[in-house]
Amino acid sequence: MSCSITSETLVRKLSQSILRKLSDFLDPQDAWKSVLIDIQKDNGEPRYTQLHLRRFEKLVAQGKSPTVELLYDWGTTNCTVGELVEILIRHKLIAPARVLLPDVTAAPVATGWRAVEDPPTKYHWEQTQLCAVELGKSKLTEETPCTLPDSTTGPEEPDEEGFYAFTYHELTQITGNWDERPASGGGSRLGEGGFGIVFKGLHNVNPVAVKKLNLVDDLSPDELKSQFNQELKTLKRLKHVNLINMVGYSSDGQYPCLVCAYMSNGSLLDRLACLEGSSPLSWQVRCSIALGTARGLEYLHNHSHIHRDVKSGNILLDESFIPKISDFGLTRASAKLSCTTVITERIVGTTAYMAPEALRGEITPKSDIFSFGVVLLEILSGLPPVDETRDPKLLMEMKDEIEDEEITLEEFTDKKMQDWDIESVEKMYNVASQCLSERKNRRPLINEVCFAIMMY
Ligand SMILES: Nc1ncnc2c1ncn2[C@@H]1O[C@H](COP(=O)(O)OP(=O)(O)OP(=O)(O)O)[C@@H](O)[C@H]1O
Ligand SMILES: [Mg+2]
Repeated sequence: MSCSITSETLVRKLSQSILRKLSDFLDPQDAWKSVLIDIQKDNGEPRYTQLHLRRFEKLVAQGKSPTVELLYDWGTTNCTVGELVEILIRHKLIAPARVLLPDVTAAPVATGWRAVEDPPTKYHWEQTQLCAVELGKSKLTEETPCTLPDSTTGPEEPDEEGFYAFTYHELTQITGNWDERPASGGGSRLGEGGFGIVFKGLHNVNPVAVKKLNLVDDLSPDELKSQFNQELKTLKRLKHVNLINMVGYSSDGQYPCLVCAYMSNGSLLDRLACLEGSSPLSWQVRCSIALGTARGLEYLHNHSHIHRDVKSGNILLDESFIPKISDFGLTRASAKLSCTTVITERIVGTTAYMAPEALRGEITPKSDIFSFGVVLLEILSGLPPVDETRDPKLLMEMKDEIEDEEITLEEFTDKKMQDWDIESVEKMYNVASQCLSERKNRRPLINEVCFAIMMY
């Protein structure tokens, strides 16, 4: 009886008749797969891989319900109805959610599947109405400043959120007095971006990356401080296996600094370019990087955050080539706003990745999707996002070349990989092409992107 079910009820305790009702909604058109890809282990990693997915698919051929089998399997972890309902709502699968908890309502976020009331479940591209909000400079500086602990706290003990408060002096020491010689050549410098230089250091024998935020011409000290506070607040809250792990910060010195886990394989941009003689990434690794990045982005979007600077330089790779999205400094919690569109005075992001509306200053989760489309083209082709000597200069414009049959997909595909096959290359290209739709409402949602990549 559904009336006796609460969000604390264990999924494994659900009756056969409830499971059958759920499968009536989730078996048709593979809606169960969107639930499956959203199930995580305690450490935030996905519980199920493509291999698991195939196994569940095989059960369909045996006449079994994949939904019921999935819930049996996941149920062994003592997951609750509350967790299941949360996933269903996130995917706008409201009718099956109501089988469990009749009072649930659709989540007010713009991500997820559109609500469907009756089986069989049907997927739709998002048609959510977006509205514009003026977000001027004053709003930026109005943000509640993050309360930073006293710098004398020292880095021995992390704060209650697990962050170390370093002194500027300590960071000066661990980066060899901000040694700007390349880390690969015995110095500390890892790279440089729009907001400062990144140095390598050692903290408690662990290598870390220290980002020293410089003043830039068009950014006032207040804006820089605001940027720093924003990055801190965001990093503290957001934790996912595909997001960069934050170690700490320093705010007592001349420059604010952020300290993150060191990613030994550098950025996806550098690895695709085989910088410093690194071996080309295999197709298999590229597919898992694409999926991991999409999952990191999905996590951000599901937590009402727009990244705003999705690019291969901001996708860092750990020692196992697991992708970690970095630089949330440009993200803004859109939950604070009742709408999903932000018009910003200061255009942020990197133009080679920017959606047409983002160039006009309009920011929605769909602008991240467009940028991710450019990243997928980079992964496929190994080409840089912009090349002054190439025609066309912008990689995103290669989509037109392919569609006009000026170049075949095979010619576009990176010859440095050995293990690709045209079928999965076509699938990735199709996702990229949809992400790169000029009209934002034609672009898929991140959940849909994850789902499509899972199918490679
Ligand atoms: N945690 C890290 N581990 C290893 N290398 C890093 C780390 N963070 C940054 N880097 C290196 O430093 C480079 C510069 O990073 P940074 O984020 O400052 O600039 P960017 O990503 O090129 O541009 P943007 O300022 O737009 O983010 C990266 O491309 C990467 O090579
Ligand atoms: Mg960066």
